[in-house]
Amino acid sequence: MQDQYPRIRLDVSNMMAENLGGRGINPNAVDRLASMAAAAQTAVQAQRGAGWLGWTELPYNQDDVVARIEEAAARVRARFANFVVLGIGGSALGPQAVQLALNHLHYNDLPAAKRPGPRLFVEDNIDPERMGALLDIAPPHESCYCVITKSGATAETMSQYLIISDLLKAQVGEGWQRHIIAVTDAAHGNLVQIARTEGFETFVIPDGVGGRFSELCPVGLLPAAVCGIDIRGLLAGAAAMDAACHDVDVWRNPALLAAALQYIAAQELRANIHVMLPYADSLRCMADWFCQLWAESLGKNITRRGAVIHAGQTPTKALGVTDQHSQLQLYTEGPFDKVVTFLKVENFRREQPIPHGCADFADVAFLGGKTHSQLIAAELAGTAYALRRAGRMNQTIILPRVDAHTVGQLLYFFELCTAYMGELLDIDAFNQPGVEESKIASFAVLGHPGEKYAKKRQEMQQTPAAQARYVL
Ligand code: PA5
Repeated sequence: MQDQYPRIRLDVSNMMAENLGGRGINPNAVDRLASMAAAAQTAVQAQRGAGWLGWTELPYNQDDVVARIEEAAARVRARFANFVVLGIGGSALGPQAVQLALNHLHYNDLPAAKRPGPRLFVEDNIDPERMGALLDIAPPHESCYCVITKSGATAETMSQYLIISDLLKAQVGEGWQRHIIAVTDAAHGNLVQIARTEGFETFVIPDGVGGRFSELCPVGLLPAAVCGIDIRGLLAGAAAMDAACHDVDVWRNPALLAAALQYIAAQELRANIHVMLPYADSLRCMADWFCQLWAESLGKNITRRGAVIHAGQTPTKALGVTDQHSQLQLYTEGPFDKVVTFLKVENFRREQPIPHGCADFADVAFLGGKTHSQLIAAELAGTAYALRRAGRMNQTIILPRVDAHTVGQLLYFFELCTAYMGELLDIDAFNQPGVEESKIASFAVLGHPGEKYAKKRQEMQQTPAAQARYVL
């Protein structure tokens, strides 16, 4: 990797028993896992670009797509004041994470001349107050809507599409279709057919790229490019991380080592909670994106061979330093059921010097002459030390700076780590059958005419209602 693109690094010292007074992971446990880890790496490499591992090739196979995205982004920038993503899950969390990481922290509030693109809104939820609130500040005639859904059947997204297309027809009239860009599967699902019928500009979510692994395809690249983000840098960063994770030796492959340590932490030491703790506001939504990736991929009840497993660490997010004043007490003194992953930024893009003052108050005056970078770094160091002293496993991912390249590295690192973890657990990390039941039941409640929903409706009607004495 070239020098101008520093690599993010992984420091796992505080995962190890020798640094935690005996409570953490013994290096022998990692050595014992070495052959399983090597098999995980071999399996992932062997399936590159195939099955649900289509995302592994995204850094390399999108030259034409990237050029088209950049053209479309330029057109959107020239014409619209707002770019609204309609999507949920993997279609929403990545775009939000990358936008917050790489654009101004108050991007939407900047005057248009100071923004590299239109305001970005990612509308995932269907809280009935939400769409109206958006429309109050971003009217359809000046908005472009990017409808993102792989399946084309997601009720939340398609209901939003119905609302917006209806409004566009009424308020914009002829040419309303130019306000919509579809991002969906090439052949399957409702949206691709609707897009063909209506003539929407369309980008394809490639085969083998599931929602939560889709940030580096048009799902994430289009919103990022519209907002002026260097999408080629993102892909180059992902490729660099891929290159850094080719070794079958668990001690020489950072994503594989991270997976092996989490596997041991969860399976042997019962650390079933994984706290993602960025010490940077820009990485706050990266924690949300990670939580979905880790939860939906690894929370599985059976192995690929059908054995009962009920696997999966519960990912949870926090923000440094904010959550030192909220969650840290629990992390240092509560149950020994957590692993903390710090995201540390070495060089922030702005600095905030702290002026001298309050000379008579030693606890305040000592801050004078320092900077917020120094303060946040000291607080991260202090928290890692406190956790270590309390025998709590923690690891640090160090970003030399937050830019397109390091964010691309980070995304790919977590995706690989998740795929390795799936291999180690011998589960299918790419499906989500546990989400299905809730979906079928809610469609049944809404009166979907399909047979399976009618059956579910019947089943639900036969289920005893809540008993009065339990409802207060
Ligand atoms: O990771 C996943 O597959 C899910 O979280 C999906 O992204 C989410 O359910 C939305 O699905 P779709 O893209 O089909 O609308």
